[in-house]
Formats: sequence, C-alpha cells, structure tokens
Amino acid sequence: MSVGVIVGSQWGDEGKGKIVDILSKGYEIVVRYQGGANAGHTVEIGDKKFILHLIPSGILRDGVICVIGNGVVIDPKALLDEIKQLENLGINIKGRLFISHNAHLIMPYHKLLDSINESGTSKIGTTGRGIGPSYIDKYARTGIRIVDLLDKKILEEKIRCSIEEKNNLLKKVYDHSELNVEEIIKEYLDFDDKIDEYIKDTTYYLHSALEEGKSILLEGAQGTLLDIDHGTYPYVTSSNPTSGGACTGTGIPPTKITSVVGIVKAYTTRVGLGPFPTELLDETGEKLRKIGAEFGATTGRPRRCGWYDAFLVNYSRMINGIERVAVTKLDILSEFEEIKVCVAYELNGKVLKSFPTDVSRLLNVNPVYETLPGWNTDISNAKSYDELPPNAKSYLDFIAKKSGFEIGIISVGPKRDQTIEL
Ligand code: GDP
Ligand code: IMO
Ligand code: MG
Repeated sequence: MSVGVIVGSQWGDEGKGKIVDILSKGYEIVVRYQGGANAGHTVEIGDKKFILHLIPSGILRDGVICVIGNGVVIDPKALLDEIKQLENLGINIKGRLFISHNAHLIMPYHKLLDSINESGTSKIGTTGRGIGPSYIDKYARTGIRIVDLLDKKILEEKIRCSIEEKNNLLKKVYDHSELNVEEIIKEYLDFDDKIDEYIKDTTYYLHSALEEGKSILLEGAQGTLLDIDHGTYPYVTSSNPTSGGACTGTGIPPTKITSVVGIVKAYTTRVGLGPFPTELLDETGEKLRKIGAEFGATTGRPRRCGWYDAFLVNYSRMINGIERVAVTKLDILSEFEEIKVCVAYELNGKVLKSFPTDVSRLLNVNPVYETLPGWNTDISNAKSYDELPPNAKSYLDFIAKKSGFEIGIISVGPKRDQTIEL
C-alpha cells in the first residue's frame, strides 16, 4: 500500500499532468483533491494531446481508476464536455470514474459572480470558472452538493432557495438582470441523469481500497503559492493545493500518506495578477514564453515568465513536506547562454530568513541571483542523467541544493518518453 501526493511547487502549470501520467503506471487509483475546472493538466501521448480540467490525469492509463474527491468543486458542463471529449478519443470512462457525493457543484451564478468580481477593483486575474464564489457558498454552508442531485425534490428546493438569494444580490448590489430559476433547475436535473452512475461515497471507497492494499496517487491542481492559506494572498485560488489539502479533499488521513512529490518547473511562471519577484519583463522573459509555449492550458492567457526561484521553492518544500521532486521543462533552458537562479530575497538591505507571503513586502523584495553557465545543447532526447551535458547536471545539482530537495524525475519534453527517472 502506498499513498503518494503530487503538488505543484510554484504558481501552477509546473507539468503536474505529465508527471501524474508518468507516475500513475505505479498506482491503481488517482484522485483529484481540490480546485475545479480552473486547472488545465496537459498530457501528450504519441501525437495526441489531452488537456484535463477535472478528471484526474490517471484516466489515460489503462486500468487506473479515477476519483474526483470531496474537495473539488464541479462544473457539470465542464465535466460532461470532458467525459465526451475523452470518449471521442477512445478513452473508456465507464466504471473507471467515481465522483464524491460530498463535492460541491459550480452553479451558473458562480461563474457570473466570478466575472462580475473580476470587472471590479479587486481583480485577481481568475480563470473565470466560478471557483471562488462556489467555495464561498461551501464555507457559508449554503452550497449545493453532488449528493443533492440524488433527490430531485431536495435539489429543486435548494436551487430555488439559492437563486432567490443570488437574484437579490444581483439586482440590489450589481444592478444585474435576474437568473431564470426554471432553466437552471432543468439543466441540473438533466445533469443528474447523466452522472448518477459515477456518484459514490468515495471516502469509504478509498478506505476499503487501502485495506485491500491498493496504492493511491493524490493529484493536486494549481500550486503552493496559489494556496489560500500559504500562498501570495489575495492573489491565490480559493482552495488548498498544498499537501494538507490532499487529506481534507479526499478523507485519507495524514497517517496514510507515504510520499509527497513536488513538481517544479526549471524556471518560474505565473498566470493572473500578483507579485512575482523573479519575473522577467524583458526579451529574456519573452524568449522563455516563446520557447516554453507558456500560454494557459485553460484560458490561453500568456503566462508571465521568470528565472527559477530557489528561495520560493524552499518555502514550498517546507509547507508540503516534499522530499523528492520532478523537475520539468529543463529542455527549455537549452537555448540560454547564462541562467540565473534566485537564492535569496533582500528587503531594505537585509536578507530575509522567511518567505514573505504578504503582498506589500513581496512586491518590494530584491531577488539575489547567482548566474550559472548554460549548456547550449539539445537535451530533449536524453534518456539518462549521464547523457545530460555537465552544465545541465550542475544546474540541477545547484537548484536541488538551494531548494533542499532530491531530484527523482527530470523531464526534457512533453512526451512520455522524454522523461528521465533516477
Ligand atoms: P500542469 O497544470 O501543472 O499540469 O501544467 P500545464 O499542462 O498547464 O503546463 C505544462 C506544459 O508544459 C504542457 O503544455 C505540457 O505538455 C508541457 N510540458 C510538461 N513537461 C515538459 C517538459 O519537460 N518539456 C517541455 N518542453 N514541455 C513540457
Ligand atoms: P493548474 O492546475 C496556474 C490562478 C489564476 C488566478 C488565481 C485565481 O493548471 O496548475 P481562480 O480561477 O482559481 O479563482 O484564479 O489562480 N490559477 C492558476 N494558475 N495554473 C492553474 O491550474 C491555475 N488555477 C488557477 O490564474 O491567478
Ligand atoms: Mg495547467
């Protein structure tokens, strides 16, 4: 029995999808534990490219069972679209996907409120998928859950009650037209007919799988610095992508977790607003974006790019309990003569001992860089650590030492065979 957790160690898009796909060959069950369709996890197999938003990336491995845990917020439309797309690509979903009865639903008004909030002064740069407003209802204890779909009468009552409240808010606060309650009820009753077969008490299911000695991989979305508690608040998402979230988002207790693997990109990216100390606003940043094809898998937005931040990843290692990491996109750095790594932050002339998660300080820190020589050689066909050029090895050794982790996987391209397992 083993229970592994995969966490993004930066601001998301580290390549979690690819690495979950690689690691899922050693697991029987893969579970998503938080977030929703704000995630975009890319997996390339042969000439096919899959972008998963809600369904765990393990679905692409034959025989692996996938679970959407209680911590996830589910947009029915996004889920049904994803199921259809996968089926069209020849992936069998039936009997391989279970959805927690305790997961919350994203309702049309959540997406509407997300876009209204984003048009105001407290813009975060969200993905517009209704994530924040749905978690607000969850914590206000007014959310609608998957379990509510199982009783049509209860579902109808809850939707009516919720829409009455939301219509009041839309009309009085935002001067917005009212939502059509009958249309929404019909849409969700229809959704219920389509997903009934997938609904399960996934907590008990996962616990009996553990008793049978099965191995489980818990797939995080987003990244540590987007964590609502430990990230760069308020420029964060509304859930806990960090490893603690894997327990609350699945019902698997901390005592059962056997490993936490961090995914780190060989440089740094961020989508949306918020401080980003190593961001490169010059042609080097543009070059990283171009070579790295750094455009959002969910929204298509250009990702902000910058050098690797060892100080930030060290914080992430500490919060998540990461021991081993997968370093992704090392191949993208092959075209740089020199590569910088941030090893510390200075603020008002003093070197900081701890990572500042408050925006006011983080916006004003000066990254302290060390410069390493590039390797100027294509590494995308390297099959072993020994085949990497000496400067690429030195770069890996340097970031591992400065961030305090051990490297378990090196990824040198998006495909399955562009992976070096140490
Ligand atoms: P996720 O959200 O963490 O799963 O990451 P995304 O899928 O949003 O973004 C990662 C992007 O990098 C995807 O387009 C992947 O196909 C791609 N990718 C992953 N690993 C590598 C790698 O080692 N090299 C290159 N060139 N691309 C990679
Ligand atoms: P994956 O799983 C990168 C960012 C948004 C925004 C902030 C809040 O693919 O790594 P939200 O829609 O969650 O309320 O937006 O979080 N964000 C992501 N950035 N990768 C993601 O997911 C993200 N999911 C949300 O850009 O800054
Ligand atoms: Mg992504």
